[in-house]
Amino acid sequence: MNIAFGTDHGGFSLKNSIIEKLNELNVNIMDMGSYTIDNEDDYPDIVEPVAKAVSSGKADRGILLCGSGIGASITANKFPRVRASVCHDFYSAQQGVEHDDMNIICIGARVINEEKAVKIIELFLSAKFNLKEEKYKRRLNKLINIEKKYK
Ligand code: RB5
Repeated sequence: MNIAFGTDHGGFSLKNSIIEKLNELNVNIMDMGSYTIDNEDDYPDIVEPVAKAVSSGKADRGILLCGSGIGASITANKFPRVRASVCHDFYSAQQGVEHDDMNIICIGARVINEEKAVKIIELFLSAKFNLKEEKYKRRLNKLINIEKKYK
């Protein structure tokens, strides 16, 4: 599984533990920065390559960190085929993939701690979109149609 990863300075404190977990999970990490803390960096610059990788299919999923997760998710959702969401609880990390085919998870390092973030990432990556239930496909198709209609 190819995982695009990005963080601005607001999310940087979680980076090492998440990369460690991704290594444990044996996924291919596409680390798109930042690589050092720069308090003047801007989250859209970090989000762009990650969202682009997911949008184009080069990455299967994406993980974005910022202070709150909000700026990252707003930016990521500007890209076609990206379904990004802020997620700070275990239930949504899994259900967001199973029901909504969420393909980028956004976490705020000022909101949750390392332990919780790592567990959330694990749940996000092990979840799969539920193809057995017709209603989830129907909803996803409606969402895709909205994306096409207003692009
Ligand atoms: C950076 O200070 C902070 O504003 C940013 O990381 C993020 O929280 C935006 O949503």
